[in-house]
Amino acid sequence: METPLYTALKRHLEKGRAPFHTPGHKGDLRALPEDLLHLDFTELPDTDSLYEACGPIDAAEKAAARLFRSARTLFSAGGCSLCIQAMLRLACPRAGQTVLCGRNAHRSAVQTMALLGLTPVWAMPWDLEAMLSDSTRTFDACYVTSPDYYGRLLDIPALAALCRTRGIPLLVDNAHGTHLAFLEEDLHPLHLGASMTADSAHKTLNVLTGGAFLQIGDARFAGAAKEAMALFGSTSPSYLIMASLDYARAWFSAHPDAYRRVPAHVAHAAACAAARGIPNLSDDPARLTLETAAVGLSGEEAAACFRAHGVEPEMADQACVVCLCTPWNTARDYARLEEAISALPAGRVPLSPPPALPPIPPQRVPLREALLQESRLVPLQKAVGRIAARVVCPCPPGVPPVMPGEEITRDAAAFYEHSGIFALPVL
Ligand SMILES: Cc1ncc(COP(=O)(O)O)c(C=O)c1O
Repeated sequence: METPLYTALKRHLEKGRAPFHTPGHKGDLRALPEDLLHLDFTELPDTDSLYEACGPIDAAEKAAARLFRSARTLFSAGGCSLCIQAMLRLACPRAGQTVLCGRNAHRSAVQTMALLGLTPVWAMPWDLEAMLSDSTRTFDACYVTSPDYYGRLLDIPALAALCRTRGIPLLVDNAHGTHLAFLEEDLHPLHLGASMTADSAHKTLNVLTGGAFLQIGDARFAGAAKEAMALFGSTSPSYLIMASLDYARAWFSAHPDAYRRVPAHVAHAAACAAARGIPNLSDDPARLTLETAAVGLSGEEAAACFRAHGVEPEMADQACVVCLCTPWNTARDYARLEEAISALPAGRVPLSPPPALPPIPPQRVPLREALLQESRLVPLQKAVGRIAARVVCPCPPGVPPVMPGEEITRDAAAFYEHSGIFALPVL
């Protein structure tokens, strides 16, 4: 029997690497219901139906709402992307509405705004507060990403206060931060004033990949929330994923302190890195974002070295390697991580930082029109002056220099070139 994917997964498992990547359960079967594989059911008279929930799914969602102290919590078996889609739909139900949007938005948000015919007003994440304070501008909602992939947090209380003053909802892509509710200092954006959050529970809790929560803080959005999820979601949501969401909720209700020992491990590994001159950029105390460029190593080189020492990180880019730490990482995992950090080659000249991001280019074609049109990939030199057709995002900084529909300026092309991107999809 030829099974390329199944075989690749088995081979990866056999490597026995210390997992510092998603999903949060880290393959520890004790983190999941033990009989999970037997529970792959569908909508039956006694198993409820996700988008018409009135039985056990409804009860499970209500129990999750109690744990997260939300006005309503909805299960997603379609990842956080589905929650982002629903969040935008709920906040802006009419085509043409305007969303003040952090430029580091996940592509699911960009694509959803195109599908719904919404108009994004882009702002660098650090300019959002100033934009919200500008009374000459009007917006129907504000959409931000916090934490970002590096674990950097925005000032959600400040953004929430500005949104309240304007009477607009604050939507937070909290894909990387479901666990923030379980830290000693509760940093979950819902508890800091967000109107809604999209939580990729599978990234940091003991949830199967694809499991996520739409968290609603502002009760005005609760009533239409199922319909908004159903607009984009599959009619066959996985019961395994939904069961794992329910199980994780029950597990964290019983073990609310489980995350509190994680920051100490992260701090120890961060100190080990700091001793070698490698800073940790993460504000999230359960995440390690090692800026290896500071010691002359790209994140990709560092990740290769980690793998050679039996450690699998979550993500690596030109400057950083990112490790996600959850209660299911073991003392042995951390020991291997520290060994891997100690083994990174030392004494190199720091890599030069990326150039400053160019100014946001002019929008020539509406987002929807650009993203839904056919595109052609052209070399950078030929792309200058043309209209961008898709999101192409160099990391760092995790902010696309050009969004679909915007003109590809000379500065933007130079930025892409510096990031090792030599061709762009254009209209
Ligand atoms: C910032 C951010 N938002 C949203 C998502 C989408 O989450 P999911 O893969 O659960 O759909 C991701 C995925 O990595 C992400 O990094």
